[in-house]
This record gives sequence, structure tokens and C-alpha cells, in this order.
Amino acid sequence: MTTRRKLVVGNWKMHGSHAANAELLQGILAGGPVNADLAVCPPFPYLSEVAVTLANSAVAWGAQDVSAFEQGAYTGEVSAAMLREFGCRYAIVGHSERRAYHGETDQLVADKAKAALSRGVTPIVCVGETLAQREAGETEAVVKRQLSAVIHTLAHCIGEVVVAYEPVWAIGTGRTASPEQAQAVHALLRAQLAAATPHADAMRLLYGGSVKPDNAATLFAQPDIDGGLIGGAALKAADFLAIARAA
Ligand code: 13P
Repeated sequence: MTTRRKLVVGNWKMHGSHAANAELLQGILAGGPVNADLAVCPPFPYLSEVAVTLANSAVAWGAQDVSAFEQGAYTGEVSAAMLREFGCRYAIVGHSERRAYHGETDQLVADKAKAALSRGVTPIVCVGETLAQREAGETEAVVKRQLSAVIHTLAHCIGEVVVAYEPVWAIGTGRTASPEQAQAVHALLRAQLAAATPHADAMRLLYGGSVKPDNAATLFAQPDIDGGLIGGAALKAADFLAIARAA
């Protein structure tokens, strides 16, 4: 089995300010090296200053979304080429908040992943079921359907993405999936990927949803959990670092 280096990504969502970001990043950088890859995903307007602060550090940065289109009359959108110019290594696509509040479909998410990859930006593709879907026994069908669109659209490039399993009921609720629940879904996703690419064993599958310093280690100890996509706890340097050290 391949050993996969853990990846811990902070999704800042719509939080931050010049002052708060500077303090957070200084805190993270002061923490010194950790034995995992780290990245932060600030809101678009702050990418430039985050890039300056993190240049020559071990911490990468990315965006929280990307347009499916190359360029053109798409008011409010940001292209993958633009993200690349600002040094983004990653772009989160298909976060459940975008699926829920912005009507993003499985196919649009797949097209965004393709647009990112075409410019050398690694998509972090989010999948996950709602509480109603879990209670109806639909978890497997939902996450497979979401991932399937990306597999079909990216074809042989699917091995280049990062996948994040984020059960919607665990996001921002303080209610984490148990390590066993998360591992079960990760194993399903890896099996689905293995049917599509010879590189599935090397792909990183992140867990997201109320990851905190006190639950990160047991989640990250699961065989198919290769790190985390962290929301609230990524806004505090000490918590983000503690989670990174658990990886
Ligand atoms: P929380 O860690 O705040 O639950 O958010 C998870 C998430 O949505 C990361 O993308």
C-alpha cells in the first residue's frame, strides 16, 4: 500500500479581514514545520496578500471556488487561470454550501474540477450527504453519484484530484462523523476511484465536518482518511496547528 502524506486544508469560508488574516497566518507560520502538507483557502480578495505572506513557506494556498468557464462575460466569476496567476495550488469545488445555496449541480462541480486541473490547480472535490439522506440510507448512493460525475468528466485525469468527504450534517454543527462512519465512506470512495484509475491508492481523501484538535487524531488514524478540510477550527492558529500535528 502507498503511504500517502497527510494534507490539512483550512477553508476560511466568508471570514477574515486584513488584520485577522495577518494574525492567523503569523500564528500558523510561527508554529514551525509539521509532518503534513498544509494549505489555507481564504476568500478571493485576500488571495494576493496571503500569497505574499506565505511565499517561501511550507504552507500552500488555494481558492474556495473556481469558474467552470475559461474567460468571458461571467460577472462575479473567477477563472482557474487567474487563480494560477496568484499561485493557488488548490481550488475547493462542490462544497455543500455552494451546492445548497448556489444551486451547483454534480455536472457543474465536475466542470469546475476540470477547469481547475486544466490550469494546474488541484481541485478539492467535496461530496457528502445531508442528514435526511443519511437517515434514509442513501449515503452511499449520494456520494457515489456526486463523485461519479467528476470521474466521468475528468476521465484519465481523475487521479490528480483531492476528494473531501464532508457529511453536511457534520459541518459547523459540532457533530462529527465517528471515525468508523467516516472511514466507511472513504473506503467506498476509494473503491469507486480504484475502478476508474490505477492511481486511487495514491489519492488523498480528506474528511471535513467539525474536525477539532480533540478528534483529529482518531479520524486521521483511519486507513483511508488522508487529512482534513477544516472550517471553524482553521480560523484559530493554535487549533489549526494542533490538527495539523495530529496528521
Ligand atoms: P467545520 O469544520 O466548521 O465543520 O466546516 C467544515 C467545512 O465545511 C470545511 O470545508
